[in-house]
Amino acid sequence: NLVLVGLGVLLWIFPGVGAALHPQETVLLRSLGLKARPSPRSPAPVPPWLWKMFQKRSEAPKESRNPCWVEEFQVPGNVIRIFPDQGHLIHREEPQSWICLQKRLYFNFSALEEREELTLAQLEIQFSHNQYQGSSLVHPFQLSLYRAPQMTLHGMSTHTYSRQLLVEQSFAHLHKSFAFNVTEVAKEWQTPSKNLGLFLEISLPASPKSSLCSKLDSMLSTSLLVVSLTPGQCKSPRRKRNAYYVPVSASNICKPRRLYISFTEVGWENWIIAPQGYLANYCLGECPFPLTEELNSTNHAILQTIPCCVPVRLSPISVLYYDNNDNVVLRHYEDMVVDECGCR
Ligand SMILES: *[C@@H]1O[C@H](CO)[C@@H](O)[C@H](O)[C@H]1NC(C)=O
Ligand SMILES: *[C@@H]1O[C@H](CO)[C@@H](O)[C@H](O)[C@H]1NC(C)=O
Ligand SMILES: *[C@@H]1O[C@H](CO)[C@@H](O)[C@H](O)[C@H]1NC(C)=O
Repeated sequence: NLVLVGLGVLLWIFPGVGAALHPQETVLLRSLGLKARPSPRSPAPVPPWLWKMFQKRSEAPKESRNPCWVEEFQVPGNVIRIFPDQGHLIHREEPQSWICLQKRLYFNFSALEEREELTLAQLEIQFSHNQYQGSSLVHPFQLSLYRAPQMTLHGMSTHTYSRQLLVEQSFAHLHKSFAFNVTEVAKEWQTPSKNLGLFLEISLPASPKSSLCSKLDSMLSTSLLVVSLTPGQCKSPRRKRNAYYVPVSASNICKPRRLYISFTEVGWENWIIAPQGYLANYCLGECPFPLTEELNSTNHAILQTIPCCVPVRLSPISVLYYDNNDNVVLRHYEDMVVDECGCR
C-alpha cells in the first residue's frame, strides 16, 4: 500500500533537463495563490523593513509562526503588499506661489482578490533630501491629504470638485518620512470605480519664495502599504482527524521524504525575491492495517478504510515576490512544509 499524496505531487516539478513543466508549474503557482507567473517590468527595491520582517519570520521557530497575524502592525493578515504610487502631478492654470505641489496619488488595487479582506492601509510619504543645507527650515511646510472624489483629469481646477480633508500636518525637516493610516478610505478602493485615489498638497504659506518649494516634487516618493487576509486561508484551525503513527524502523514505512523546491530551477528567479527555494517534503510509505480495530469489519469496509500515508503536521512559509503590477508582496502561506506524516 504505497501512496503518494499531498505535496508529493510537487515532486514532479523537478524538470528533467529540458522537460516541459507547464502543468506542474501551474500546480505550484496555485499553491502560492497565483493564477499565472508574474513578470515584473520595473520593480522597486524591497524596503529594508520588509526584508527584516521576512527574515524575522524565516528565522522564527516553526511553532511560533502565525501566518495569519502581522505582529509588526498588530493586525490580522497573511499578505503584505507595497503599492507604488501611479498618480500624477496636477498642473494648475493659475498657480499660487505658496503651493509647492499638488499631486493625485493612485494605487492600482487590481492585484487584490475580490474577497480579500483589507485590514490595514498605510500611506508612506518620504522626502529624500540629502543636502544638509536647507534641510531645517524656519518656516514649516504644510502637508494636506484629501480624499479625492471626482478628480479624473489633469489640470482640473481645485475648486470644481469637493475634496475631503483627511489629515493635515506641518513639518520643518525634509529628511523625514510620514505614515498615515488610510485604512478606511482604501477599503473602498477594492471597487475599481470607487478608487479615485488621494489628493496631496504641500505648501509653504509663510515663505512663498523658497527654492526648495519648486524642487519638492523630485524629492517626494509615496507608496501604500496594505495588509490583507486572502479568502480561504486563515480559517479556524482544522479539526484533526485521528491518525496513527507507525514506528519508524523499516525504510519503506510511512514517513516524510525530503523534497526541496528550488524556485531558481523552476525559472522563477526574476519575480521571487526570497527565499530561493524551500524544503516542502512529502509523505510516502507503507501504512500497515491497524488490525485490532478492524477485526470484525467486512472485507468491503476494510477496503474503504485503507489507511493512507498523509501529512499530519504542516508548517507555514513566507515568500517575498513581485507581482504583475510591480508591487512588492510578502505573503505567508499555511501548510507548505510537511513536518510529520501519519496513516489515516
Ligand atoms: C491596473 O492594473 C491592471 C493590471 O496590470 C491593468 O489592467 C489596469 O489597466 C490598471 N488600472 C489602471 C487604472 O491603471
Ligand atoms: C487605522 O484606522 C482604522 C480605521 O479608521 C482603525 O480601525 C485602526 O485601528 C487604525 N490603525 C492604526 C494602527 O492606527
Ligand atoms: C465490531 O465489534 C464491536 C464489539 O464487539 C461491536 O460493538 C461493533 O458493532 C462491531 N462492528 C461491526 C461493524 O460489526
